[in-house]
Amino acid sequence: MSVDTATVIRPIERTVLRHWRLEFGQIDSAGRLVGAAPDEEVAFLTLDVAGESANVLSREVMEELDRLLGELATRHLRGVIARSDKPSGFIAGADVREFGKIDDAAQAAELARGGQQVLDRLAGLPFPSVALIHGFCLGGGLELALACTYRVALDDPGTRLGVPEVRLGIHPGFAGTVRLPALIGHLPALELMMTGRAVTARRARRLGLVDDVVPERHALYAAQSFLTRRPKPRRPAWYHRALGLRLLRPPVARLLARRLRAQAAPHHYPAPYRILDLWRNKASPATEAISLGELLVGRTSRNLVHLFLLAEELKRRGRTHRHDIESVHVVGAGVMGADIAIWAAAHGFRVTLQDQQPEILARAVGRAYKFFQRRFKDERLVREALDRLVPDLAGHGVRRADLIIEAIVEKAEPKRELLRRVEALARPHAVLASNTSSIPLETLAQSLRDPSRLVGLHFFNPVARMQLVEIVRGKQTAEAVLDRARAWTAAIDRLPLDVKSSPGFLVNRVLTPYLLESVKLLEEGVLAPVIDRAAVDFGMPMGPIELADTVGLDICLSVAETLAGPLGVPVPAELREYVAQGRLGKKTGRGFYRYDAKGRPKLGWRARRAPAPAHVPITERLVLRLLNEAMACLREGVVAGVDDIDAGMVYGTGFAPYLGGPMRYAQSLGTTGIGHSLYRLSQEYGERFAPDPGWSQPELLLRHATPA
Ligand code: NAI
Repeated sequence: MSVDTATVIRPIERTVLRHWRLEFGQIDSAGRLVGAAPDEEVAFLTLDVAGESANVLSREVMEELDRLLGELATRHLRGVIARSDKPSGFIAGADVREFGKIDDAAQAAELARGGQQVLDRLAGLPFPSVALIHGFCLGGGLELALACTYRVALDDPGTRLGVPEVRLGIHPGFAGTVRLPALIGHLPALELMMTGRAVTARRARRLGLVDDVVPERHALYAAQSFLTRRPKPRRPAWYHRALGLRLLRPPVARLLARRLRAQAAPHHYPAPYRILDLWRNKASPATEAISLGELLVGRTSRNLVHLFLLAEELKRRGRTHRHDIESVHVVGAGVMGADIAIWAAAHGFRVTLQDQQPEILARAVGRAYKFFQRRFKDERLVREALDRLVPDLAGHGVRRADLIIEAIVEKAEPKRELLRRVEALARPHAVLASNTSSIPLETLAQSLRDPSRLVGLHFFNPVARMQLVEIVRGKQTAEAVLDRARAWTAAIDRLPLDVKSSPGFLVNRVLTPYLLESVKLLEEGVLAPVIDRAAVDFGMPMGPIELADTVGLDICLSVAETLAGPLGVPVPAELREYVAQGRLGKKTGRGFYRYDAKGRPKLGWRARRAPAPAHVPITERLVLRLLNEAMACLREGVVAGVDDIDAGMVYGTGFAPYLGGPMRYAQSLGTTGIGHSLYRLSQEYGERFAPDPGWSQPELLLRHATPA
C-alpha cells in the first residue's frame, strides 16, 4: 500500500517563550487551529506579555520576537499571522516605564534602531504576513502591524488604531514615519502622527490602514485567507501619493507648520514639528531614530511621560475596588449636572436627571443628543445612550439609584436641604455625593443622619474634556464610600484624585489666587486680552479672564467668598458687581468679555493687537501666585504629595502640560529662586505675594503620594 504524500498532515508544532508563542498549523473553517500539510502551513505568532494586562513592547518582548523571526525565516510557510491573546487588545505601544531609564539621546536612538531592525526582519520574511488586530493597536504596536504585508481588524467599537507618541512629546521610532505615509498617503499619515488621534476599525479601513474589517468569529480564518489569496498590497490613491513629490514637500510642510503654530508652540511642543521636518526631508528610519532619541530625553517628553504615568497611577487606584453602581441620579441639570449625567450615560450607566423646570431638562436632553451623535456616530448607539438618560422632573430616580450626585446652585443651605430630603428617600447602600466647588463637606453633611455616606465628587468644566475628578474626603466620610467613589470615577474614564475637604479643595484653591491676580491686573488697567495672551503664551489652555467667564462668575464669586477668609484675600468688587448685574460669563453671553452666539469672546481689533505693558510682569505675577498656593496645599496636606498636585492641576485645569505640573515646574526653577522672586514681588505688590513657609522646607518636595 502506498502513502499519498499530499495527505501528510503535520501535527501542530509549538514554541512557547515568556511573552510570545509560536505555533505552526492552519485554521479550519470552524476557526480551530489544526495540523496542516507542509505546503499549507501557517505560523501563528501570538503575544501575551507576562504579568501585564495589556501588551507593551518592552526590550525583552522585542528580543524574543527577533529570536522567533529568525526561526521563522528558515521555514517554508504559507505565511505568518501576528496576533494577541490579551482581551485588552493587540499591542498598546512601547513600554513607557522604560523611557525614564534612558538618559542619553544616543542610547535612545540605538534602541529605536534595534526595534526597526526587528520589524525589518518581519517585513523581509520570504512569505506574506498579516497583523490580526483587536482592541488597542497603538504606537509601536501599529508600527509592527505596518511592517506586515496585510492588516485585518476586528469590527468592534473597542478597536482603536493610532500613533499617539506625539502626546508623550515624541514621534514614531520603529520606521512609522516612513511606512505610514507610504501606506495611507501623506496628508492622512501626517494628520494621524501630528494629532496622535486613534481611529476606529471602520475609519482605518476607509483610510487604507487596514485591508479588511471582520467579525470576531471569522477573524483568524479571514486573516489566513489573505495568505492564501495574496492580494496585491494596497496603495494610496494617486492624489495622496502626489503630495510626496520632492518639490511639493517644503510648501506643504510650511503650510501645516503655520496651522500647527495656532495649536502648539514649537518651543513647548517640538514633536509635531519634528514629524513635519522628517517628512519634508524624506527622512530615513535612521534619521527618525536619531530625532526620536533627542526628543525622548528632552524636557517636554520627560514631563509628558511623567504626567502619563501619574494618570495611570490614578486609574490604578480607582481600579482596586468595586463600585457596585448601576444607576445614578443627578440633581441639577445646569452646566455641570447635565454634563455629568450625559457623560455617565455615555459610559453605560442608567441615569435619571432632575431639575426644577422641564425646560432645563429639555435643554439637557438636546445637549445629550448632540453629544452622543458626535461621540458614537452610529444611530443605534446614540439611541441606546439616550434611552439610558431619563429626565426626571419629580425625582423618582432617587429611590432606585446607587449613586446620587447633587449639582445644584453653589449655596450651602439649599444643598443641605436637598441632601436631607435625598437621604430620607435613598436606598440604604446608595452613595450620596456633592459636586460642590468649595463648600466643606462637613458643612453639607450637617443635615444628614448618616454623614459617613457623603463624599465630594468634584468634576471640572467641561466634563468631557477635563479628566480629573476630586474625590473629597470629609472628616466623617467612610472609607468604603471613598473606595466606591474612586472606582466609579475610574469606570467612567475619569481620574480620581483624593483631596481633603478644606476650602476650595486642591484645584480651585490653587487656581483662585491666579484668577484674582488677573482681576487685579484688570483693575490696574491691563486689558483682558493682554492678560489672557500672557497666560496662553506661558502654556495655559485658556487665559484666566476667559476661564473665569467659562466657569461662571457666580461660581467664581462663591469660591472666592469661601476662600477669602482662609486665604486672607479680598474678593474683588468688580466680581460682585458683575454677578449682581447678572453678568455671569459665557452662560449669559456676558462676563468680563461679551460672547458671540458660538461662545467666543468678541474682541475688537484694538484689543486683539494691544501690546503688553513693559513694566508689569504679568506672567510672573499670575504663575507665582499659583505656585505659592500649590506649595501651601502641599504643606497643609490637602493632597498626599507633589505628584497629586501636578496631576490635579494638569488634568483639572490644563496647566501647561509641557512643564509637567506646577510642582515639577517649581522643582525645575529651584525653590530658593521661587522664594526670592515671591519676596521681591511682595515688596512691590504687597503681602499676597509673601512666600509660603513651605519654600524653605525642601523635604516637602520629596513627599510623594502614598497609594490609596
Ligand atoms: P447652574 O446654575 O448651571 O445649574 C444649577 C442647576 O440646579 C439649575 O439648573 C437649577 O435649576 C438647578 N437647581 C437648583 N436648585 C435645585 C433643586 N433644589 N432641585 C433641583 N434642581 C435645582 O450651576 P453649575 O455651574 O452647573 O454648578 C452646579 C454645581 O456644580 C455647583 O455646586 C458648582 O459649584 C459646581 N461646579 C461648577 C463648575 C463650573 O465650572 N460651573 C465646576 C465644578 C463644580
